[in-house]
Amino acid sequence: MKFFIDTANLNEIKEAYDLGVLDGVTTNPSLMAKEGIKGHDNIKAHYKAICNIVDNNVSAEVIATDLEGMIKEGYELAKIDDKIVVKVPMIKDGIKAIKKFNSEGIRTNCTLVFSPGQAILAAKAGASYLSPFIGRLDDISQDGLEFISQVRLIYDNYGFETEILAASVRHTMHLVQCAEIGADVVTCPLNVITALLNHPLTDSGLAKFLADHKKANG
Ligand code: E4P
Repeated sequence: MKFFIDTANLNEIKEAYDLGVLDGVTTNPSLMAKEGIKGHDNIKAHYKAICNIVDNNVSAEVIATDLEGMIKEGYELAKIDDKIVVKVPMIKDGIKAIKKFNSEGIRTNCTLVFSPGQAILAAKAGASYLSPFIGRLDDISQDGLEFISQVRLIYDNYGFETEILAASVRHTMHLVQCAEIGADVVTCPLNVITALLNHPLTDSGLAKFLADHKKANG
């Protein structure tokens, strides 16, 4: 299972990378705006800065919603670095753009995916990654994890090579259950990755080991 961090914050990306378990980064226009990154050149420079931290898989999202615009932007983004994965929304022209990028060897991440039908279309178009949003489905009282299971079943039925990149992951149990279901990748904020470290029995056990060692050794 791959771990991606879902942020455009360089310090958080560095911290996750230093842990030694990070396989990539996902961003979106909201996350870029949150970091105050604006303007064509600054946005490209920020993607490059992210690529300089991690080994691979940096999702950079197009803003255009028409085919011509998405293709133009996707080429520009892909030129920034070989690590870039062009993130394309699940809309009609997005599917056409994914098909074209795939035929030219440009990796894609199909984003804003909320239904099994959308997942099938993205795989048929040759998306490298599919981003089904768990938390946002939960937010409207639909079962985000059940959706991941459905996509896993469908992709396995047909041997689709598109990797399931579980997104909108809000807590550790989302992540652990994605692992049980067999999602290929999970993207989540830094606090979800670091929360995996925590268990009270680890803390109390370590305190006891150290106390016993001190008692025996003075
Ligand atoms: C993933 O690519 C998305 O950017 C992200 O996971 C959305 O998460 P949110 O629903 O918490 O905003």
